[in-house]
Amino acid sequence: MKLIIVRNKEELGARAGGMIAEAINAKPDIALGLATGSTPIPVYRELIRLYEKGELDFSRVRTVNLDEYIGLPANHPQSYRCFMDKNLFDHINIDKSNTYVPDGMAQNPVAECARYDAVIDRLGGVGLQLLGIGPNGHIGFNEPADAFSERTLAVRLAEATITANARFFDKPADVPERAISMGVGDIMNAKKIVLVAGPEKREIVDMAMNGAVTPNIPASVLQNHRDVTVFIIRE
Ligand code: F6R
Repeated sequence: MKLIIVRNKEELGARAGGMIAEAINAKPDIALGLATGSTPIPVYRELIRLYEKGELDFSRVRTVNLDEYIGLPANHPQSYRCFMDKNLFDHINIDKSNTYVPDGMAQNPVAECARYDAVIDRLGGVGLQLLGIGPNGHIGFNEPADAFSERTLAVRLAEATITANARFFDKPADVPERAISMGVGDIMNAKKIVLVAGPEKREIVDMAMNGAVTPNIPASVLQNHRDVTVFIIRE
């Protein structure tokens, strides 16, 4: 795993965004695996900036998001579909029918997981996966567990995750407790992985990169991938 320490959000956006832009230019129909959360926002800003400058074309790009809350409709302001539209898709020339986010309102979440796996397979897997990391080392919504997950799954969020997510909701009772997430196996299948983390994640990033590979720290599995770049913002 390669670690790049950046000074601030702007540098994070420029460097991680630059890597994604390079991947799109090398393969204009790339399948990008995308993440939500606070940390990727400057990365998306950079992609929008490059598009506005005429340096990036998303017309053939396909995207597949890591996760979605169960119980939130796509038009809910805190749904990850809504996040992606607002922070990226509405500002670039992507064909929205080529953008995939799990359906949090699916009647049968297990069937939705299978449908999402079929989407990932149809795209030929992920070319570049953008990841954040949870305070407990989760990637996507793969929380600490006894074993690494393989494919898309319905999960109960860890208490630490529910607490961290509470800042986006009016009251604690509104914070979703379940989600659909791409599996660790799906993430590991990506050709290239870019993980972005803020200064508050320094310790968990260090444990994930340098500690034992264990499903108790899901991000530690990335030590077994041959092309991972971790960007962390210096305190
Ligand atoms: C979001 C996701 C999560 C976040 C993680 C970090 O799609 O899969 O794993 O990447 O919770 O979130 P931030 O960047 O808000 O600290």
